[in-house]
Amino acid sequence: MSMVAEHAKWPKENDIIFSLSERAQAAEKELGKDKVINATIGALMDDNGKLIAMKTVYDQLKNLPNEEISAYASIGGQPAYQEAVKKVCFKGNDPEGYIRVVASPGGSGAIKLAMYNYTNENDVVLVSDWYWSPYGIIGEETKRGVENYALFDESGNFNIDSYSEKFTEILNRQGRIFTIINSPGNNPTGYSLSDEDWDKVLDLAKEAAKDKDKKIVFLVDVAYIDFVRDDDASRKFFKKFGNLPSNILTIVAFSMSKGFTAYGMRMGAAIGISSDEDITEEFYYSLMHSCRANWSNCNRGAMAVLSEIVADDKKYEEYEKEKNSYKDMLLVRANAFVEGAKECGLEILPYRDGFFTSIPCDNPMKACEELAKENLYLVPLKMGLRFAVCAVEESKCKKAPAIIKEVLDRI
Ligand SMILES: Cc1ncc(COP(=O)(O)O)c(C=O)c1O
Repeated sequence: MSMVAEHAKWPKENDIIFSLSERAQAAEKELGKDKVINATIGALMDDNGKLIAMKTVYDQLKNLPNEEISAYASIGGQPAYQEAVKKVCFKGNDPEGYIRVVASPGGSGAIKLAMYNYTNENDVVLVSDWYWSPYGIIGEETKRGVENYALFDESGNFNIDSYSEKFTEILNRQGRIFTIINSPGNNPTGYSLSDEDWDKVLDLAKEAAKDKDKKIVFLVDVAYIDFVRDDDASRKFFKKFGNLPSNILTIVAFSMSKGFTAYGMRMGAAIGISSDEDITEEFYYSLMHSCRANWSNCNRGAMAVLSEIVADDKKYEEYEKEKNSYKDMLLVRANAFVEGAKECGLEILPYRDGFFTSIPCDNPMKACEELAKENLYLVPLKMGLRFAVCAVEESKCKKAPAIIKEVLDRI
């Protein structure tokens, strides 16, 4: 028997990442942490496998007056938070034009707001073939599908030809396109578009936008932007979204989850950028309507944490110092994994930034099960395996590729 409405019938399955993570934790308990490599978790863990919660962030939270945590917030977010979001996201690389910010529960909330308000029922959104699966889940909840382009060409570069082909096909079919680009530090690959890649993407959009009946929306998912090699260089691309034709709208999905180790606080924002003020006003009020319809307002305490840190130069500096120490830790681990892969000849996708790296393979489910027998747990994707360098200490990152290579060669 079923009680749910037709649109709410979904397969009864648990999130595969969370169940693999539980199996890895059970193995750690049974065999000891040193015997198990748990590369399933999408959060920064210290070398002992404990979740990192930044001191500068949580000291600030605990210093807030109770009322500042307890009170309702404005639906679009507190004004100080909206300003703070622009500051930490763009770091001085603000695109020219009109910009409005709507608070959301995490980057996920921003993606939901953007996708719902800028696609019609039965539309598809364009994402790469290596993509974060919740994009599909967020879409299917309200009858939006996904179509893919190949992220990489044969030389491992951004595949502009594939992007261009799918972009044009969908835009001609639907008259509008909503395309998600998760960069820098793409989940699951660790790839970051270069400035030249962005130029090619935007040249294509500008050409298509000459037809004023066409509507083009970029959703730029920057969930991992605080874990890039070069903070400033990695933000230069934001400038490119300035002064675009008015039928191109850019929405940046900002998240406090990774950059502030605030995963459970559920705070983010959708940032709308346009050369046309009416378009950003429309963005603001359409998204606010959805906020009201879904969750009303967001976590006021989390907003205050960001606003207070950003408003005080000393606090911001201390936060940056702490965050950068974890960024350095992450890079050491990622380098160890890339080096280990090179040494044993394991093919991996080009890693640049962020929490993850991926290994292409034919039978990811089977590979995962076989690797679990070697006490190495990672996440199966459609086209390969995802290894979370954010959660695994350096020496394990170094030795994991050889274990993976041995299993992939054998199955
Ligand atoms: C690619 C990507 N986008 C967005 C998010 C949003 O996360 P949150 O909703 O916690 O901000 C995540 C989190 O894992 C992610 O991996």
